[in-house]
Amino acid sequence: MSPEVNAHSSAKKRYPWLKMTAVSVLVAVLALLGPSLSSRVEGSSLPAQAQVINQRSFNVLNTTQPPAVFNAESLFVPPGYTAESLVKRPFHVYDEEFLKIIGKSPTLTRIAHSPKDPLFHEAVVWSKETDEVFFVQNAGAKDADTGLHKSAIIEKISLADAASVSNKSDAAGLVKVTTVPSSPMVINPNGATNYRGQFIFTGEGQGNNTPPALWLMNPQSPYNTTVLLNNYFGRQFNSLNDVVIHPKNKDVYFTDTIYGYVQDFRPAPGLQDQVYRLNPDSGAVTVVADGFVHPNGLTFSPDGEYAYVTDTGINYGFYGMNYTQAASIYRFDVKKDGTLDNRKVFAFVNAGAPDGVHCDSWGNVYAGCGDGVHVWNPSGKLIGKIYLGTTSANFNFAGKGRMVICAETELYYVTLAADGNYIESEM
Ligand SMILES: *[C@@H]1O[C@H](CO)[C@@H](O)[C@H](O)[C@H]1NC(C)=O
Ligand SMILES: *[C@@H]1O[C@H](CO)[C@@H](O)[C@H](O)[C@H]1NC(C)=O
Ligand SMILES: *[C@@H]1O[C@H](CO)[C@@H](O)[C@H](O)[C@H]1NC(C)=O
Ligand SMILES: *[C@@H]1O[C@H](CO)[C@@H](O)[C@H](O)[C@H]1NC(C)=O
Repeated sequence: MSPEVNAHSSAKKRYPWLKMTAVSVLVAVLALLGPSLSSRVEGSSLPAQAQVINQRSFNVLNTTQPPAVFNAESLFVPPGYTAESLVKRPFHVYDEEFLKIIGKSPTLTRIAHSPKDPLFHEAVVWSKETDEVFFVQNAGAKDADTGLHKSAIIEKISLADAASVSNKSDAAGLVKVTTVPSSPMVINPNGATNYRGQFIFTGEGQGNNTPPALWLMNPQSPYNTTVLLNNYFGRQFNSLNDVVIHPKNKDVYFTDTIYGYVQDFRPAPGLQDQVYRLNPDSGAVTVVADGFVHPNGLTFSPDGEYAYVTDTGINYGFYGMNYTQAASIYRFDVKKDGTLDNRKVFAFVNAGAPDGVHCDSWGNVYAGCGDGVHVWNPSGKLIGKIYLGTTSANFNFAGKGRMVICAETELYYVTLAADGNYIESEM
């Protein structure tokens, strides 16, 4: 599909005002006055767990927010909704295209709760062989007591356990969460992906003497690990954040950014924040993109034609927020030689900042944001949300119709119609 053709189709675009006949004027008026998204969608079959959010209903507000009042943390509640009503039916339909993604009866289940310690943070990765999903604790959060004292832990759940409770909305305590004893231990893991039958974790490093690194881990006992890369020509990275494999060239692309520093477990950066590429066979490491505030999540479209990089520029960790910085997803063209070109703004999010990012098998783009997981079509149109009312830093598909969402102190299991963009990266 050509993204441009699909972009924001509006009555205005379909009926340019200049060349209007009487008939087209009538058609245009009918189109503008025609049934709203709500009535079109409600009229068909809206799943019980879904609700329509009509953006036009809040294009004009009686009360708007002056800049000094904005704090990037309180969530926008459109008129006619409440914080409770938004959470009650968590699949928010912004566009009919979202109905195909969620299917007829999507479910959202809270499967674990950790009252204080943010155990459910990032690096959500599915092991196809064991049908388990792995994820990691927040390395920098104060309540995790990690930082310079101890490393963040890796944990996992079984998908069969999650599926057995998927008709409940709250099943916290019913799904076993198991700590994974990686050996030697992956230090401060933050991102992860499947790679040649193993996982690659990005480790953020710790202090001056444990450098950030790419770690390979066996997804099965004894969870043995091997460091794949821990420097750029002798220099330490800042804190490696996320990692993904290109579906065609199979190289390893990863982001490096300042979060270890602004969460007080890494020294001040010695490099600018940027996106790197490793060819594991030759060992070559190159820089493929820079010019971000804080590059964070990254992923590729299923055909490998596009790279998506999130920028959590507004979030300066323990030092606060910079509201005028990026909370954006950038899209690059991936050229035949695997370099990135033509950076463009793909989305600027309306809640928090986009962190972990993944595509489904149709090329739609999902990102963890300040109120849950947002979903855009390939043209960057927001088509829906899986709304939690709280921040999700990352999530992932676990094969067709299944997703696990990390939300710091909460872990969720989702069933829907879409399939993930799983990359088989055989040798
Ligand atoms: C905005 O103000 C108008 C006029 O006072 C009122 O009818 C309407 O209900 C208000 N809308 C909201 C969302 O408060
Ligand atoms: C949920 O699923 C279980 C087992 O599949 C079934 O016994 C139970 O009746 C279901 N509950 C609801 C509310 O659908
Ligand atoms: C784990 O150990 C097995 C057996 O020695 C080896 O084949 C595999 O490559 C190791 N994996 C990692 C990530 O070190
Ligand atoms: C962001 O905000 C922090 C704290 O206010 C400040 O120290 C830092 O320099 C800012 N960074 C940028 C890029 O504006």
